[in-house]
Amino acid sequence: MSDEPRTSPRSVLFVCLGNICRSPLAEGVFEQLAGEAGLQDELRIDSAGTGSWHIGDPPDPRSIEVAQRHGVELRSRGRQVSASDFREFDLILAMDRSNLQELQQIRDELAQDEATAKLRLFREFDPEADGDLEVPDPYFGGPGGFDTVYAMVLRGCRELLAEFERD
Ligand code: 4NP
Repeated sequence: MSDEPRTSPRSVLFVCLGNICRSPLAEGVFEQLAGEAGLQDELRIDSAGTGSWHIGDPPDPRSIEVAQRHGVELRSRGRQVSASDFREFDLILAMDRSNLQELQQIRDELAQDEATAKLRLFREFDPEADGDLEVPDPYFGGPGGFDTVYAMVLRGCRELLAEFERD
């Protein structure tokens, strides 16, 4: 163990539009991986939406189903991003560019100088992203979309965990 201060992130907030499809799935998968790595008590993992339609709602049944099929339980309830998130989380990961733009706007309007969180696109952590850095919104599509999203989320969360385990 070194006495150097820790530089790896300790907290992450996954953000999409509604906080019922993509970001709760990422939250659940990352919690599972962190638990398997024995890091569950050290990390803060959460998700939120830029929109307010689904505050208090459970995840979309299609996200719950795809997660369950892979042995992951989704326990989150919908909430909207707030200014304090930009102070409280080390990393805020947007599922698509529209989410990212909204987050930048919220940060600039509400959180300003006190915003310490790093804001990134989640798929920057997906080794198979191949330049396409968005997790597509599956809400209006068929159930197959949720399998695609799950695969992206799993790949991204595995890489993300390595970032958290750096030191
Ligand atoms: P999410 O998907 O952003 O992945 O949670 C959506 C969920 C709900 C809506 C849009 C996207 N909606 O319009 O209610």
